[in-house]
Amino acid sequence: MSLVSAKDILDGKYAVGSTVTLAGWLRTRRDSKAGFSFLAVNDGSCFNNVQVIADKSLNNYESEILSLTTGCSLAVEGTLEASQGKGQAFEIKATAIKVYGFVEDPDTYPMSAKRHSIEYLREYAHLRPRTNLIGAVMRIRNTAAYAIHSFFQERGFMWVSTPLITASDCEGAGEMFTVTNLDLNNIPKDDKGQVDYSKDFFGRHAYLTVSGQLNVETYASAFSKCYTFGPTFRAEDSNTTRHLAEFWMCEPEMAFTDLNGCAAVAEDMLKYVFRTVLELRRDDMEFIVERVDKDAIGRLERFINADFAQVDYTDAIKILETCGKKFEFPVKWGIDLQSEHERYLAEEHFKSPVVVKNYPKDIKAFYMRMNDDGKTVAAMDVLAPGIGEIIGGSQREERLEMLDKRIEEMGLNKNAYWWYRDLRRYGSVPHSGFGLGFERLIVYITGVGNVRDVIPFPRTPRNADF
Ligand code: 4AD
Ligand code: MG
Repeated sequence: MSLVSAKDILDGKYAVGSTVTLAGWLRTRRDSKAGFSFLAVNDGSCFNNVQVIADKSLNNYESEILSLTTGCSLAVEGTLEASQGKGQAFEIKATAIKVYGFVEDPDTYPMSAKRHSIEYLREYAHLRPRTNLIGAVMRIRNTAAYAIHSFFQERGFMWVSTPLITASDCEGAGEMFTVTNLDLNNIPKDDKGQVDYSKDFFGRHAYLTVSGQLNVETYASAFSKCYTFGPTFRAEDSNTTRHLAEFWMCEPEMAFTDLNGCAAVAEDMLKYVFRTVLELRRDDMEFIVERVDKDAIGRLERFINADFAQVDYTDAIKILETCGKKFEFPVKWGIDLQSEHERYLAEEHFKSPVVVKNYPKDIKAFYMRMNDDGKTVAAMDVLAPGIGEIIGGSQREERLEMLDKRIEEMGLNKNAYWWYRDLRRYGSVPHSGFGLGFERLIVYITGVGNVRDVIPFPRTPRNADF
C-alpha cells in the first residue's frame, strides 16, 4: 500500500482518474438515503479534509462504514475524481476501505466533532492534535521552526547542539531545575550538613539549562556565525499566559557584530519566518483568521512591511512616565519593564514591534557589554504588540577586566566561568546574539492567547502530565 497525503491530493499532484490510497482519521460522516456516504478524512498533512464517497458496493459498507464515527482510523483506496462540492477540487470515490480502529464509545469520545473550548482541549493534550485548531497551530509551529533553520542556514550560520544539562546559570536568575540521581529520601550530606553533590552523578551540582547562550558563544568564537535551537528550562513559578517551565529558544550568536547588527538580524529573521508561514501555511492561517483572530494575517503583513521602531530604555521610561496612563507597577528609571509597560510601548505608543536598547546594568545579566556611560549595558529586547517581549539579546562583554568586574559585582563565582573567561583571553572579539522565545513567537503568529496551547505538551507549575 503506497500512501498519498491529503495535501498532495488537494494540491492537485495526482491526475483525476488515478488510483490513490489515503489513510487518516474520520472527521465526519454524512449518509445519503440513496445508499452512499460522504466521509471527511483528515491525515494532518494540511488543514482540509479529503471528501471520500463510500457506497454500498463496498463489501463492508453496511457492516462497518455505516458505523464509522469521528476519530475512527481508516485507509481508503479509490479513484480520484473532480469534486462537485464547493471548497474542494478533488474527492475520492472509494473502491475499498480498511478500518483500522473504531472509537470505543463515540458518545464519550473527548474530541467529538463539536467545537470545544481551548481550556477543555488542554485537558486532552494527547488527543487535541486531532482538532482543527491545534492541528493548524502545530503545523504553523512546524513551519516556523523550518523557517528559522532555513533563515540561518541560507546565511551561513552553523547549527550547534548545546547541552541541556549544565553547571552554569546563564541568566543568573536562580531559576534552575536541579538534575540529580541522588535518592531524595537519603540525601548525602557533608560535614556542614549541606547536600554533598560530589556523591551525585556528575560529581557536582548540575542543572537543566536556562539558555544555550554561553555554550553557543564558544562556537561563535570559532565558526563566526552560529545558532542553537532547542528546549530550555526555567523553574520560574509564574502562572501566566507567556511563561512555560520548558520552552524552546532559538539563539543565534555572531562574532564581529555589535548590538545594531544583532537587532537587524532579529528583524530580518522575524520577517522571514512570517513570510514563510504566510506562504506555506495559508490554509491554517485562514482558519486562524476565521476562528481565533481576524487580524492574524493582517498583523503579519503589516509586520513584514514595517520598519521596527527603536528606542533607548532611558527614552522608553520617559515615554511611560509622561504618557498619562496609570500602570499597576510604577515607572522610574532602573525598573525592569513589566508586561504592561512593554505592551503599552508596542501597542499604544509605537503601534509596531519595537526594539528597546541599552538597559540599566543592574537589571541585566553579567555577560552584557558595559556602555561608556558606566550605567547601562548594550542589551536589547524586541517587544511585539499583543505579547510584549519575544526576543532578548545583547552585545556580549568581550573585555576580560570588564567581565570579571561584572562577575564580582554580581556575586558570581569567577572560577565557575573559567572556560567562558578563556574566550576573552584567547582571540576575543566583539560579538552579539539573542534568544527568541519560540512559543511566544507562535502566540504572536496565531493570536492564540496562551503559550500552553502552542506547544504540544506544556510544562507549567504543578503540571507535568502526559
Ligand atoms: O530574555 P531571556 O531570558 O534571554 C536569554 O535567555 C538570553 N540568554 C538569550 C540570548 O541572548 N541568547 O529569554 C529569551 C526569550 C525571551 O525574550 C522570551 O521570549 C523567552 O525567551 N522566554 C520564555 N518563553 C516562555 N516561557 C518562559 N518562562 C520564558 N522565559 C523567557
Ligand atoms: Mg529577557
